[in-house]
Amino acid sequence: MKKILDVISEEMKGAFQRAGYDRELGKVTPSNRPDLCEYQCNGAMAGVKRYKKAPIMIAQEVAGELEGSQVFGSVSAVPPGFLNLKLSSAFLADYLDGMVKNPKFGLEAPEKAKKILIDYGGPNVAKPLHVGHLRSAIIGESIKRIARYAGHEVIGDIHLGDWGLQMGLIITELKEREPDLVYFDDSFTGDYPKEAPFTISELEEIYPAASARSKEDGAYKEKAMEATYKLQNGVRGYRALWEHIICVSVADLKKNYEKLNVEFDLWKGESDVHDLIPQMVEEMKAGGYAYLSEGALVVDVKEETDTKEIPPCMILKSDGASLYNTTDLATIKERMEKIGPDEIIYVVDKRQELYFEQVFRCARKTGLVGTETVLKFLGFGTMNGKDGKPFKTREGGVMRLESLLAEIDEVMYGKIVQNRSVPEEEAKETAQVVALSAVKYGDLSNQASKDYIFDIDRFTSSEGDTGPYILYTLVRIKSILSKYAEAGGEAAAAALRPAEGGPEKGLMLELAGFLGMMENACEETAPHKICAYIYDIANAFNHFYHETKILAEEDAAKKEGWIALLMLTKNILETCIDLLGFSAPERM
Ligand code: ARG
Repeated sequence: MKKILDVISEEMKGAFQRAGYDRELGKVTPSNRPDLCEYQCNGAMAGVKRYKKAPIMIAQEVAGELEGSQVFGSVSAVPPGFLNLKLSSAFLADYLDGMVKNPKFGLEAPEKAKKILIDYGGPNVAKPLHVGHLRSAIIGESIKRIARYAGHEVIGDIHLGDWGLQMGLIITELKEREPDLVYFDDSFTGDYPKEAPFTISELEEIYPAASARSKEDGAYKEKAMEATYKLQNGVRGYRALWEHIICVSVADLKKNYEKLNVEFDLWKGESDVHDLIPQMVEEMKAGGYAYLSEGALVVDVKEETDTKEIPPCMILKSDGASLYNTTDLATIKERMEKIGPDEIIYVVDKRQELYFEQVFRCARKTGLVGTETVLKFLGFGTMNGKDGKPFKTREGGVMRLESLLAEIDEVMYGKIVQNRSVPEEEAKETAQVVALSAVKYGDLSNQASKDYIFDIDRFTSSEGDTGPYILYTLVRIKSILSKYAEAGGEAAAAALRPAEGGPEKGLMLELAGFLGMMENACEETAPHKICAYIYDIANAFNHFYHETKILAEEDAAKKEGWIALLMLTKNILETCIDLLGFSAPERM
């Protein structure tokens, strides 16, 4: 289906043409003055110079051409030359009926579906998830769902941080604590135990301890670097330990992401491309791109048009060790060879922007990706506490994702049991569902690149621009629909009717923006557009609801029309929150 703005613009363009003007002047936009009109067209003003005529004259002529229009209920030419427009209620109902009858509310498949790889999540193995990883997971999941819904082939890859110094640190710390473990016995040739010699909580305690110690103790850090080197070069016992670390850690990560309703198609990590590095490096050297600079192997990536200094991209350190860069480049190589995406999107903290600029330039320059592939950095801002500083625990430490979610679950639980008496089990489940909406909506309703303040009180409020408000609205609609069904009504068979009242039409006008909104949200990888859209819908619905006695209406046809409108509203809201990555409970 066509976007409603396009349908209206077509009608307007026809009128400009019939009145003897350039049809392109007939572009319609949403109204700047909702108190006066629903849409407007400023084409008459734009035509002044060309036609040497007062704009109001042009506007009047065009309005004359629109008498009897099926699309517009009213067209008024107002000084100095605006065309203020209201839709015909019949046309609007008809348009929405098209949305009801078509799959995906009329959203058509793209002319050419793209293959898009999204690199998001990016947790580091054996380090607890913190709130920085939360944003990547929430935003990445949503843009994945949006692009998929739009009809593209989308692959989400978690890109685990599983190969760097942190692994060497853990191994070193383990060796200090338990030197007799068989993994450290060089003469051992048998099979290593299947069971890991640590639990996830031990692992999470080991890493910070090791990391802290390495900052104070130079010799310890040396050992950790050596352990990293040994691991990367395939020392058996180290590899076996590393596999345990991955296994224990990934099981825990899966649990965490599942709670967040975040799902990855690929669980690849930095380690997966280790074997590709030597060949990649050779090619970069052979192509004349990589050269030695102070012992390190680098590729220049600066360009003449740069206004700021872009340092070279370092490929290998002077000791031959690979870096974060190296694995990212090798991952690009692997993705191009095995998957061949049209686009790779990285959802990472915006403080890594310069880093990705270097990596992208290096990948292009050295031919890892051709010009036909888009590399996109979707950098997100920092999640701050109410004090405007990066979100911390009360004690000032890094807030762990688990603790954060537990805290919100608790706040939500408190609110639910306060409102009504619910069995504890149900209240807990509902609290989790609503809490997730609070966190995700709180994040996604901001433009991703902006910093935002994580405000539990505001996010969990059932009023205002929040996830719980959207869910309350949805639950309210569901409750009306189920009462209608209990009374023997068949909501699915109900047909939309042209709106009679203002609030009803207001809701219809909001709903009609779906296709335009989806196009923007997808093209601009912008989940916040979905949030803004459903917030407007929720407001319009609640306004309608407060003005209308829906179930008590005696005119059956009228009531049926409203029920159909509620069904569409519910379906659209449910689709949209699914694209944002959360769902609604049955009751709240
Ligand atoms: N593991 C990294 C971190 O915690 C994020 C990874 C981002 N993705 C990437 N391809 N570099 O900062």
